[in-house]
Amino acid sequence: MKFDPEIRAAVLTASDTRTKATDESGTVLVGLLLGLGIGVAERVIVPDEFETIREALIGFADKAQVDLILTTGGTGFAERDVTPEATLAVIGREAPGISEAIRRETAASTKFAMLSRAVAGIRGKTLIINLPGSPKGVRECFAVFEPVLVHALKLIRGETGH
Ligand code: MTE
Repeated sequence: MKFDPEIRAAVLTASDTRTKATDESGTVLVGLLLGLGIGVAERVIVPDEFETIREALIGFADKAQVDLILTTGGTGFAERDVTPEATLAVIGREAPGISEAIRRETAASTKFAMLSRAVAGIRGKTLIINLPGSPKGVRECFAVFEPVLVHALKLIRGETGH
């Protein structure tokens, strides 16, 4: 699939332990996006630090001007899980339907879905969606919004109506 203009994404992995060599979830996301014809222009692994995640999100949205940022990790209940807070700090509009659908539709396969505090929202013309940290979680959650993703991004770009 080819989009004109091209749809560009960024993948942010929030983790205190993952490295380039071990960031399986980030790699899974790159593959899933490519499957939709969406190129990954930016990719980063950052520690679970509010300020670092916030700055990376702003850089991807405002400087790199990607259409989509997918984050993986840091959405749980541990003290250092701050990805949702950093995301809420940068978005102008929430997109709760996406996170609601993810939790609702994956609850059947894992009770742990309720332990994700993931959020989604829009900063300028960039959609940001939080996903959990495990490769399995990433695959399950991506499958939920995959059918509406391109339409959502086109709506944000102003390329299509409802
Ligand atoms: N959602 C799905 N669909 N599949 C999963 O495996 N893992 C859960 C949950 N959401 C999971 C999931 C677990 S075990 C946790 S602790 C939370 O997401 C938060 O994960 P995170 O802190 O790695 O972001």
